[in-house]
Amino acid sequence: MTEPTTGAPAVPRTRSCPFLPPDGIAAVREAAPVTRATFTSGHEAWLVTGYEQVRAVLRDPSFSVRVPHALHTQDGVVTEKPGRGSLLWQDAPEHTGDRRMLAKEFTVRRMQALKPNIQRIVDEHLDAIEAQGGPVDLVKTFANPVPSMVISDLFGVPVERRPEFQEIAEAMMRVDQDAAATEAAGMRLGGLLYQLVQERRADPGDDLISALITTEDPDGVIDDMFLMNAAGTLLIAAHDTTACMIGLGTALLLDRPDQLALLREDPSLIGNAVEELLRYLTIGQYGGERVATQDVEIGGVRIGKGEQVVAHILAADFDPAFVDEPERFDITRRPAPHLAFGFGAHQCIGQQLARIELQIVFSSLLRRFPTLRPAKPVEELRFRSDMVFYGVHELPVTW
Ligand code: HEM
Repeated sequence: MTEPTTGAPAVPRTRSCPFLPPDGIAAVREAAPVTRATFTSGHEAWLVTGYEQVRAVLRDPSFSVRVPHALHTQDGVVTEKPGRGSLLWQDAPEHTGDRRMLAKEFTVRRMQALKPNIQRIVDEHLDAIEAQGGPVDLVKTFANPVPSMVISDLFGVPVERRPEFQEIAEAMMRVDQDAAATEAAGMRLGGLLYQLVQERRADPGDDLISALITTEDPDGVIDDMFLMNAAGTLLIAAHDTTACMIGLGTALLLDRPDQLALLREDPSLIGNAVEELLRYLTIGQYGGERVATQDVEIGGVRIGKGEQVVAHILAADFDPAFVDEPERFDITRRPAPHLAFGFGAHQCIGQQLARIELQIVFSSLLRRFPTLRPAKPVEELRFRSDMVFYGVHELPVTW
């Protein structure tokens, strides 16, 4: 269904402070937490910015993820999406069943068991950085490779194929290449995942893919395609997000010496600090896109069947109705239920792993380099304003 164009104002996207939400989004929320806006693609849709209203959208089964328009791209064209096992692009009831099967494998035990390996991966990268000597680009040498090694561990990618896996994963996220190159990287990733699935079928280990292969599956849902979709989604959902949080989180900590000093003085604040970093940066900067499958009311506003909605989690995490003085970055805040991992049926399945990883990353980085400092002023950094997940393209640091 095409929505009528009424000349609604453009959704705010420009940030005068790179660590704060776009200018004007707070005013939009104050004026109307559910309102019409025009998006990058030129389409109009509902823009939801209030904390309670965003939660109301994300938990309401009347909304589907199979949206008609890609609001945040220039052409608005929705590309073909993967099916069973891909979660992000599935609705209930298939989503519910497939997610249950995947979630079963994201156990506390499995995540805790990854800890020593995550620590080892982090330490090895810090050793290499130290040996190289400053200044180094922390994105290239640390923020990007660490999450891809962690996910390789989770999937049981054999050590000798990890460099290739990492190279492809990084090629998938690059912006300085054309669509054909990204597609080619996607094809190579598909080939690699197919090979991995076949190897695990022949010789199961204690990794996540083997666990899925051997899980109870009375309806015979878990075929090769399911496994490749699941692994592909997990890889993409886990890699770019965590990498962005590491790069941008470090940039923010270095920009706020008082908070950095607090964390250095009391390393036990790390859990709180990571929650505040997640809230403050809420890197899923465009929010969750949904479409109403029936008429529904959100915050007293009627949203018609077929109309598209953006649940703006970044604006919601700065709603004063949710958190006092939202623009104050304060790692001593009592952690509150922020929406950086989304909410409702599609809430991030990997959040526990992300938290463990970020805690190890920031603690180890600060411990290893007590004099870590930026090698370039914040104003000269290139921020990922045009990408789904916000972050820094590079972060030169020295010590
Ligand atoms: C700091 C890092 C991360 C952030 C900020 C993040 C954020 C998010 C958000 C906002 C969503 C909800 C999307 C929506 O409602 O449309 C989501 C979903 C998801 N995330 Fe994460 N994520 C992170 C790390 C991870 C990791 C490490 C994994 C896996 C190991 C992961 C796997 C997933 C999956 C599979 C979904 C889809 C769940 C579903 O649709 O049911 N994420 N994530």
